[in-house]
Amino acid sequence: MSFTIQEAKAMISSMPRVSLGFFPTPLYRLDSLSEELGINLWIKRDDFTGSNLFGGNKTRKLEFLIGKAKADGADCVFTYGATQSNHAMQTSWAAAKNGLNPILYLAAVVPPDPDDYKANLLLDSIYGAEIHIVDLEEGESFADAEKRSFKMGKSHIARLEEQDIKSYDIPMGGANEYGTLGYVNCMIELAEQMESEGVRFDHMYHSTGSGGTMAGIVAGKRIMDLAMQVHSVTAMDVGDEDKYAGRAAQMASDALTLLGVNETLSAEHFLIDQNHYGPGYECPSEEGTEAIRLLARKEGILVDPVYSGKAFAGLLSDVRSGAIPEDSNVLFLHTGGSTVFFAEKEIIGNLV
Ligand SMILES: Cc1ncc(COP(=O)(O)O)c(C=O)c1O
Repeated sequence: MSFTIQEAKAMISSMPRVSLGFFPTPLYRLDSLSEELGINLWIKRDDFTGSNLFGGNKTRKLEFLIGKAKADGADCVFTYGATQSNHAMQTSWAAAKNGLNPILYLAAVVPPDPDDYKANLLLDSIYGAEIHIVDLEEGESFADAEKRSFKMGKSHIARLEEQDIKSYDIPMGGANEYGTLGYVNCMIELAEQMESEGVRFDHMYHSTGSGGTMAGIVAGKRIMDLAMQVHSVTAMDVGDEDKYAGRAAQMASDALTLLGVNETLSAEHFLIDQNHYGPGYECPSEEGTEAIRLLARKEGILVDPVYSGKAFAGLLSDVRSGAIPEDSNVLFLHTGGSTVFFAEKEIIGNLV
């Protein structure tokens, strides 16, 4: 099923939404790297979504998530992530700006210094978020600590409910059908930009974590009938790929239902690349470090070590192995994350 840009925009405009970002984000060709790699490499700068100094993909999702929270009459917004979560930071400012109280449960994958909060955690505090640090127990994984933090959030929400304080619970990464609308909207924006630039992409690469961004990208690609292959490069071990893709497919289908589109997506519509997150979430990799330096030195663009640096390493690896044919039109979606350059050394690695 395919829609015109005008029809798709009309569908999106019927959704609950607040305005948070500056759109469209820039789309342009990277001339130096295109020449070096033998492809036509373009970038879409979702690190420039605004409106604080540090943008990122969550701003698009939060336009709809905060819109829904306000439509539901919420007083507070809860969310989850690691202590250096870009999502939690963007939720903090987006909620505060809209008169909602941000409450965060953050798993300490890399334990922060309580007397010296850095990067996203520092910004969360400046934005006035109520922060609950969830320390990892002996031998506990990030995923298990996350599950524990969701439970803590749920009982906190129930306690507030008893005092007639209403909360909207945003899942980690903003990964539900409302957040997914943010990237459906991005694909409508992209389709319009492709038309005006006269370019059709063969491949698109981006970083994936909670899976909400890829759900929106694939749903949006579907309604705009875009032919590109989307490569979703994981920032962490996402476990069983079919299950992971299945969850994204459900979010994508639910977002389409909200828009009144009767179309079901399934795991086969997603291409997950799990080869580049190593050695683990928030652990820098050598190829990620190389990718960061290359993009910085050839194009002056910064990508972070946790998400976009590893996704860009995935793109480079496919180009160098010949999996991406010469002269292909390739788009890299920059999803933000630059605050991490000011985070704990363990997360940044040896960039210099
Ligand atoms: C900079 C950055 N890129 C990509 C992602 C992955 O997005 P998603 O959680 O929607 O898969 C995140 C998630 O937090 C992020 O912070």
